Amino acid sequence: MKNGTTEKIRVGIVLGGMSSEKEVSLESGRNIFGKTDKARYEPVPIFMDGGGLLWEIPLKLLMRNSTRDVELDLETQARRIPYESLSGRVDIVYVGLHGKYGEDGCFQGLLELLRIPYVGSGVLGSALGMDKYMGRKVLAMSGIAVPETVPVMGPEWDEGRERIIDALGEKPGFPCIVKPSREGCSTAVAKVVSAGDLPAALDAALQWDTIALVEEFVEGMEVTCGVIGNDAPMALTPSETIPTASVLSLEDKFLYGQGENKTPARLPGHVLERIQETAVCTFRALNLKVYARIDMIVRPGGEIVVLEPNSLPGMTPSTVLFHQAAASGITQSELIERILTLSFEAHASKKGPL
Ligand SMILES: Nc1ncnc2c1ncn2[C@@H]1O[C@H](COP(=O)(O)OP(=O)(O)O)[C@@H](O)[C@H]1O
Ligand SMILES: [Mg+2]
Repeated sequence: MKNGTTEKIRVGIVLGGMSSEKEVSLESGRNIFGKTDKARYEPVPIFMDGGGLLWEIPLKLLMRNSTRDVELDLETQARRIPYESLSGRVDIVYVGLHGKYGEDGCFQGLLELLRIPYVGSGVLGSALGMDKYMGRKVLAMSGIAVPETVPVMGPEWDEGRERIIDALGEKPGFPCIVKPSREGCSTAVAKVVSAGDLPAALDAALQWDTIALVEEFVEGMEVTCGVIGNDAPMALTPSETIPTASVLSLEDKFLYGQGENKTPARLPGHVLERIQETAVCTFRALNLKVYARIDMIVRPGGEIVVLEPNSLPGMTPSTVLFHQAAASGITQSELIERILTLSFEAHASKKGPL
């Protein structure tokens, strides 16, 4: 217990935020709040508004339907917490944010400066986890298979569209996937089957980031695997992501990664083990900490390709990470408890930023 007394540990659960994933964050944060053991911890809901300011919110605001609904009443019903006051209010921050500024090392850097322990990966791991282009370079250097990826920089695209389109037709060729380097929730992710569709897809991706990725379309079974731990990370049971018929649309576009999940994935035991090994290697290579979920595709020939890590995976009640934990007999509350304990451990032994 805090300071060796029976006082509860105050967990600031930060949710909302500035990214395209703020609505998921609201749901994740609300669930983390609900599942935190109240006998040991005092969960404090803290809303980050669209401008990055923090507010301690009452339960009735936590239960609102959207971040917009929360923002409507911040001035009258919530209490602003200036950054420098945060350490006086909480003992640890559970980062319930997803996406830009929350999952990419920015908020983690702020918490380092404020000397507040926080949940999940540190500055570097978070940044590598968010930046698909940089992360893939590190993974490839570590001998981990990633999709063939061609970056397209915004200024370059503006100057030489024709030349770039010709080059992309050679490598990676069609079909390909176009996406911003640093986004989530399938934002501006498009499958492109011919050169004619490249400009619209690249324009859309470059609205979200200065680098767009054009990558080979990897055929196979999409799988995802949670990893938990610090120095000796452990993989949970891998799940299979099944695209449902309803997410297929006429233009050969999916709402990617939004299908149903099946845990364990319907694959032989030795393949499940290789998926777990790949997930742990990815976790280590990217300097991830405490927990993460690694998305992969198993090619028909058996090769496992890492699509992306999620350093702060969704924590909504029905999310796949909880199914994987349940397969190992771990409840939602127990998983959150382990995450908090591992985070305290990581911060107690760090030298410099996590
Ligand atoms: N190279 C690829 N080959 C096949 N499918 C892909 C590829 N890239 C993305 N997808 C599909 O699109 C989804 C979203 O892409 P992802 O890279 O995970 O972006 P996000 O960070 O937005 O989740 C994936 O879950 C997968 O279904
Ligand atoms: Mg994804």
